Amino acid sequence: MNYLLLRAANGKKTERTPVWLMRQAGRVLPEYRKLRLKAKSFKNLVQTPELSAEATLQPISAFAVDAAIIFSDILVVPEEMGLPYTMIEEKGPVLEKTIKNKKDINRIKIIDEEGISYVNTAISIVKNELNNRIPLIGFSGAPWTLFAYMIEGEGSKIFSNAKKFLYTQPALAHDLLDKISKSVINYLVAQVKHGAGIVQLFDSWAGILSPEQYQEFSIPYLEQICKKLSTMVPVIVFAKGAFSSLSDIAILPSSVIGLDWTMDINLARKWSKGKTLQGNLDPCLLYADYKTIEKKTIEMLQRFGSHHHIANLGHGLYPDTEVGKVKCFVETVKGFKP
Ligand code: CP3
Repeated sequence: MNYLLLRAANGKKTERTPVWLMRQAGRVLPEYRKLRLKAKSFKNLVQTPELSAEATLQPISAFAVDAAIIFSDILVVPEEMGLPYTMIEEKGPVLEKTIKNKKDINRIKIIDEEGISYVNTAISIVKNELNNRIPLIGFSGAPWTLFAYMIEGEGSKIFSNAKKFLYTQPALAHDLLDKISKSVINYLVAQVKHGAGIVQLFDSWAGILSPEQYQEFSIPYLEQICKKLSTMVPVIVFAKGAFSSLSDIAILPSSVIGLDWTMDINLARKWSKGKTLQGNLDPCLLYADYKTIEKKTIEMLQRFGSHHHIANLGHGLYPDTEVGKVKCFVETVKGFKP
């Protein structure tokens, strides 16, 4: 398929820069709020393929982006491994049980080659509806980020329990990271078999590890996943806050490096070994007026240059962003002539 986004991901020249947004599905659209009410709960929305397929497609009509991303959550992986979560309104996810010791790790199951069936079904529905217009992005949390939630049990600014585990029980940490990585590989391969044309790994909590810890507890697991998935589709590694680990990320067998807005584009170009870069506007820019959004978007596009770039924000859209401002960002990218 001659998809613009996949060509850019594969390092080919493109007639314009492709664009999508992290967290484009849900959050800012009034039609998403309606669907969310109809589904009763976030989990029900995620687990009902017809509904999650609809949530996936909403931003395609609303924003005319160059890719769809399957509507789901990174926490479906810990849940499938035996740690169910509840999504608490205004707070976020809370896991009912957490991992504390070896016994807990032994009890955890590895997701098998079937992957997660409701995600597979949602992907098949979306793939059919998209009718090859744009590619579908599959995703998973990266092992370190999933590990952080599995130990901590909820969101946190510092994840001190998860980090304590790395310092006090490093061998056990590796055992758990290994089980998570095997699960992620099977989960993502199943997504690709059902129609995902590219996958993104969200290492949202990369930035709280030292470069040495990132090298020990994240990179080897990203490597295992990229090695397998790259034989099938392009892989995007988005490690938020991991600027000092970019040169390690650059040598992974993956195609695209996601950048957050704190990362310097010129330095990233130097360290990224010619890989395609994705990003990286501050999601808060979309609170500014239209003129400022246009100006900053164009400046970003000029800094990245006209090739080897997928335009995106540097993290997910914030829920209180105006729909018109999102459209302004997308249209500015699409109308840009270098
Ligand atoms: O990109 C997309 O549009 C696809 C959907 C998607 C969701 N979550 C839906 C969602 C994706 C890719 C995610 C990934 C995710 N989930 C990450 C990694 C990306 C990142 O933001 O760093 C993380 C850390 C999570 C865990 C998570 N899910 C949290 C902390 C929360 C609560 C706070 C928040 O962001 O709203 C969620 C809930 C969530 N996941 C919502 C959506 C649309 C909002 C829930 C609702 O509808 O009420």
